[in-house]
Amino acid sequence: MKIAVTAASGQLGAAIIKQLINGIGKENVIGIARTPAKAEHLGVEIRKGDYSSNAEFVAALQGVDVVLIVSGMDAPDKRIGQHQNIINAAKEAGVRKIVYTSIIGEDGQSSFDAIVKSNRQTEKDITESGLEWSIGRNGLYIEPDLEYIENYRKEGKVANCAGEGLCSYTTRDELAYAYTQIILHDNSNGKIFNLAGNAITQQQLAEYLNLAFGTTLVYEEMTPEAYLEFQQKANGEFLGTVIAGIYTKIRNGEFNINSDYEAAAGRKHVGWDDYFGNLS
Ligand SMILES: NC(=O)c1ccc[n+]([C@@H]2O[C@H](COP(=O)([O-])OP(=O)(O)OC[C@H]3O[C@@H](n4cnc5c(N)ncnc54)[C@H](OP(=O)(O)O)[C@@H]3O)[C@@H](O)[C@H]2O)c1
Repeated sequence: MKIAVTAASGQLGAAIIKQLINGIGKENVIGIARTPAKAEHLGVEIRKGDYSSNAEFVAALQGVDVVLIVSGMDAPDKRIGQHQNIINAAKEAGVRKIVYTSIIGEDGQSSFDAIVKSNRQTEKDITESGLEWSIGRNGLYIEPDLEYIENYRKEGKVANCAGEGLCSYTTRDELAYAYTQIILHDNSNGKIFNLAGNAITQQQLAEYLNLAFGTTLVYEEMTPEAYLEFQQKANGEFLGTVIAGIYTKIRNGEFNINSDYEAAAGRKHVGWDDYFGNLS
């Protein structure tokens, strides 16, 4: 069985490929990347595939049984067509099954909802493709908060507009483990899985960061309006709006979901006590 993983040069794609190599051997894994040179270090066959090119994916998916599509990074309206390019190519190339990495999130009105909605559209396109499919809806990655630790240390606080909202976080490695199980077991066919660990508040996140990094961070709640203004100044109009939208969704409880991680992965998601405890 040949498994192809898109966006192999990215962090999630690479993590999934590493897990797949452990499971089925590198000769059965193909990475597809817009920039192949950035994925060659993975030690598997790398083929070229830009999401904007249906033709590249028709070529890249020859002889492939299952393709895992990592959601793209473009503006939401562009992503839908890009993902459709891969779905159409999978049909043309005779791929049996598509696995898609989507995102959690109840419907809402925040500025992040265009991204959630574009993922739901791709889910629909996949379920209507006529191919076998499985979909994972990823929780929010926790790693960016770890990477931001020196800034948090300088600021002395975690400040955003999430308030007391609970957020279902996960890690790329936990996702990679679950996706490997989803790919390799056909009892996942026709199912949508929420993939995340236990939901935590920003106050709890600050406490976990303190545990892992010896910081003394406090959590400070901002209003959604003040946080949007702050983010747009710090990260520009587009990215700032997206980030503020994420924390508004957390505030509104729209990223607090029931996880199906164990059903998908066959084991529990790592607990945050263990995860942060092992970082320290
Ligand atoms: N759940 C979350 O918290 C969360 C957070 C951020 C993003 N996401 C989503 O999860 C996805 C994977 O995350 P990640 O951490 O692996 O991101 P990442 O490390 O930034 O990697 C993004 C990948 O997307 C590839 N890509 C972007 N546009 C492409 C195109 N037109 N054609 C082909 N490849 C393209 C990039 O290729 P190049 O190397 O050529 O640039 C790269 O491999 C993201 O793309 C995004 O949709 C989820």
